[in-house]
Amino acid sequence: MNTATARAGANIALVKYWGKRDPRLNLPAAGSLSITLADLETVTRIEVDQGLDADRFELDGRSADPRPVAAVLDLLRPAGGPRCRVVSRNNFPTGAGLASSASGHAALVVAAAAIFCPQMGSGDLAAIARRGSGSASRSLFGGFCQLHAGVAEDGSDCRVEGLEEAGYWPLEVVVAITDAGPKAVSSRAGMNRTMATSPYYPAWVASVSADLERARRAVADRDFDELAEVSEHSALKMHASALAAQPGLLYWNAATVACLRRVRELRDQGVGVFFTVDAGPQVKAVCLPGQADRVAASLASIAGVEQVLRSGLGPGARLVES
Ligand code: ADP
Ligand code: DP6
Ligand code: CO
Repeated sequence: MNTATARAGANIALVKYWGKRDPRLNLPAAGSLSITLADLETVTRIEVDQGLDADRFELDGRSADPRPVAAVLDLLRPAGGPRCRVVSRNNFPTGAGLASSASGHAALVVAAAAIFCPQMGSGDLAAIARRGSGSASRSLFGGFCQLHAGVAEDGSDCRVEGLEEAGYWPLEVVVAITDAGPKAVSSRAGMNRTMATSPYYPAWVASVSADLERARRAVADRDFDELAEVSEHSALKMHASALAAQPGLLYWNAATVACLRRVRELRDQGVGVFFTVDAGPQVKAVCLPGQADRVAASLASIAGVEQVLRSGLGPGARLVES
């Protein structure tokens, strides 16, 4: 096969990944638990071109640095294998805290594997996607999944566990975009700075396994109130550790805070909704089925909210039949 196209949904961690135990293998310092989205997605096409002497990469219609993409391709193609043209598009803002590195690397790995390693299973694909971006391993799976940090030096026990398919609990996500531009400090740089300088970082790492247990149980019981509490706690705690870095990392703006307050007001009024925030100023409101219309209308009315996106839960990364 000379060309392949894959698509992958972004995912949102409810228990966050923030920091690494091995930067070279990109092994996380602690586990994470996420939901994969149906409607925020990447589509990536790879074409082998024997005439190229280096990989080419086009992202969102512009030529981009091919080196990170080449590094992932090198994990799948034989040494000295052919170079590729990679064309990718995200249907949501790139590098803005909406997990483009997750859907982007998941789609890349699925398309590249179709060309170079068609027999590879989703566990091995997830491990390669993780090398590109930690959160990407979770976009190989649909619905609810957990990335286990593992302890092995070679990363062999760092694996993703599928917990439930998307249809198991059809939560909906409303994304309030408060600034569509790329963030000033990437997730990778932000977590590395937090690890190196935040006095709260050890406390963060020590507390994640208890959050994971709580979140797993809440998903197993479809206990929305419990999932809301542990997810908001994990998100705020991640940002607390980042705020305490030097220099401090402040990913939020005024509209971010207004959205967080609004989500809590809605919950106090009995609406089934909770928030989470990644490394960026956008707020993701996770809603019980049937609640998203009201949540979307409420967040859209907040000053500084540029746009509201909506998504259900979706499947893992997959090939697009050509
Ligand atoms: P985000 O919050 O969007 O995940 P990150 O800082 O984690 O932001 O990562 C952004 C980087 O991810 C981009 O600069 C780019 O290198 C990479 N990326 C984004 N989209 C894609 C894609 N579709 N294919 C490959 N890499 C991508
Ligand atoms: C805040 O997976 O983007 O979104 O592994 O360095 O590429 P790298 O980082 P990335 O970090 C995601 C951080 C987060 C939380 C999460 O998705 O778990
Ligand atoms: Co990312």
